[in-house]
Amino acid sequence: MYNPDLPGALPADPSRLQWLRETLHEHAHRYHVLDAPTMPDAEYDRLFRELQAIETEQPELLTPDSPTQRVGAPPLAAFASVRHAVPMLSIRTETDAQASGAHNFDARVRRELELTDDAPAVDYVAEPKFDGLAMNLRYVQGRLVQAATRGDGESGEDVTQNIRTIGQIPLRLDTSAPGALPAPPLLEVRGEVYMGRADFEALNERQRAAGQKTFVNPRNAAAGAVRQLDPAIAAQRPLSFYAYGLGELTLAQAGGPAFASHHGLLQALKNWGFPVSGLVTIASGATQLVAYYEAIARQRDALPFDIDGVVYKVNSLALQQRMGFVTREPRWAVAHKFPAQEQLTTVLSIDVQVGRTGKLTPVVKLAPVFVGGVTVTNATLHNEDEARRKDVRVGDTVVVRRAGDVIPEVVFVLPEKRLPDAMLFTMPAQCPVCGSAAVREEGEADHRCSGGLFCSAQRKQAILHFAQRRAVEVEGLGDKLVDQLVDGGIIRTLPDLYRLGLSSLVALDRMADKSAQNIVDALQQSKQTTLPRFLFGLGIRHVGEATAKALAGHFGSLDAIMDAPLEQLQAVSDVGPVVAHSLRTFFDQPHNREVVAQLRACGLRWQEGAPLARPPTPLSGKTLVITGTLPTLSRDQAKDLIEAAGGKVAGSVSKKTHYLLAGAEAGSKLDKARELGVVVLDEDALKELLDGRA
Ligand code: IVH
Repeated sequence: MYNPDLPGALPADPSRLQWLRETLHEHAHRYHVLDAPTMPDAEYDRLFRELQAIETEQPELLTPDSPTQRVGAPPLAAFASVRHAVPMLSIRTETDAQASGAHNFDARVRRELELTDDAPAVDYVAEPKFDGLAMNLRYVQGRLVQAATRGDGESGEDVTQNIRTIGQIPLRLDTSAPGALPAPPLLEVRGEVYMGRADFEALNERQRAAGQKTFVNPRNAAAGAVRQLDPAIAAQRPLSFYAYGLGELTLAQAGGPAFASHHGLLQALKNWGFPVSGLVTIASGATQLVAYYEAIARQRDALPFDIDGVVYKVNSLALQQRMGFVTREPRWAVAHKFPAQEQLTTVLSIDVQVGRTGKLTPVVKLAPVFVGGVTVTNATLHNEDEARRKDVRVGDTVVVRRAGDVIPEVVFVLPEKRLPDAMLFTMPAQCPVCGSAAVREEGEADHRCSGGLFCSAQRKQAILHFAQRRAVEVEGLGDKLVDQLVDGGIIRTLPDLYRLGLSSLVALDRMADKSAQNIVDALQQSKQTTLPRFLFGLGIRHVGEATAKALAGHFGSLDAIMDAPLEQLQAVSDVGPVVAHSLRTFFDQPHNREVVAQLRACGLRWQEGAPLARPPTPLSGKTLVITGTLPTLSRDQAKDLIEAAGGKVAGSVSKKTHYLLAGAEAGSKLDKARELGVVVLDEDALKELLDGRA
């Protein structure tokens, strides 16, 4: 294949050239016009650079309609077209995600300004590269008269009605701030319209609830909102804005530059009331550009909005003017991109993994791909519904995303790349490990293997769970070893673990005498444990560490827990009907009681306390919320009474609230309680409950 990085590479294959142009046209249209991209940005950039390189190498192949010769795509027919007074340019992209990206730019600037090596460092303004869409805001005599998208750079779409709904965009310039300049007769402000991450999540949540389509990422949601033909709908979409530049400008008095520097311009915009990012800074020379790049990269995942890199601009407007433009890009600015968080890859297979509680999880095995800074080979689909919604099939080309430490996910499938015979994924009817029936219970999203501890996958997970650090802790007992022990039929149950002899361990693959002895010692050590650790280690559904602690504290002994009826279990704080039911189900099975007896026989020990004798507690297991002013009781008094009766007082009303105790002037909590159907009590009703009268 043609290698864009090699100067003087082979002459371009004409069909490749044709293909690149068509593909790039197609995707630019999907991206800019349809707001529905089907290719990650990084892939688009790669193809774009390949085409650019061919055209640089062989300028005779360049045609005016090549995708490299325009900035975007034509406007949608539905919006009026606006011709930009000053074209909206694109900037050169530096994709070298290393320090050299910044060094290259600084070296180019110095060369073009003919600076000698001993000339002082050039001052730049360094800004985040916001991942939204560019907007031109036109102000006449200080009033917003028009907002237009970039479109193809020459003309865009008139989206004034929608942009007016963005609260952060001033409808009139504020000239009252100290240092604010008077409003120019004509001013065009350029910047990025974007959607914050929290706003994006909330919007998707609302879309889902309303049964409407969700958006792939904040940028697409923002683009969709801006081009929403109905401004009433646009107004409900939470958009934000950052200003970063200027379009046309006319000043009241002729002569003299309005601003001496880009930084001065941003300050003036801020004074007029435009949002300017607090992350914008002046950086002197390449070293400070590199420091900025690295600092912003570290903050990237924690920012409340998406960015895909940083932008460096020569600060002095006089120097900017001296440098000018090359084709459609300013020579004085560059976008330095971060490593892509989305990439294309293909699906090799879709496996089904069995978890400790039998939960079946579809796992997409991917051709290895470098994304978000690591090589990714797996992405989980949470359950059948998600697998259906994304409709991932073996052989598909997919976009995978990995941002920060979040587990990788398949974002979407490229439908045009689907193989004709690709089969729909369905959850197997049988557990792929033990062959027991896989069941999805009514109202549940998950399929589960019904094999329980008959299933070797569940047995392995159960053993690993019991041996983990937060349970009884058997140091050195990892998944490879457990695989060997279970698959080799050496152990079947938890107690078998404690019957392991040195000889059976030494006989295993790659097991040195010393390691075998370490395991035996670790097992011995794990026998002295605590009741909460042991209880948690049993792996009872819904019994996490906190619940195990609460149960141990409440009952004092394992026998008391094993024999407690449902009501008594529910008297424990944090134990609701689901957890209580799960505990009962577990301990009602004779084989589970047998496992506990055998573990004790193997020498597992913990301290037990006496069962705590408790007075009858009318509010045990109940969560209450207090709001408003009660007639006689203070809030603290009410809280003491509730807690003495075994109840819990929470701060906010949720589905888990049993009662809302409401006094005079109860506000939003009362509304929320009514909305959720939570029982509302007044002070008298509370007292009746406490007396056992209700
Ligand atoms: S300056 C002549 N600054 O990136 C320079 N652009 O191709 C014009 N962008 O479409 C752009 N953050 O939408 C500039 N701080 C920033 C930016 C930024 C995001 C976008 C902009 C433009 C694209 C550059």
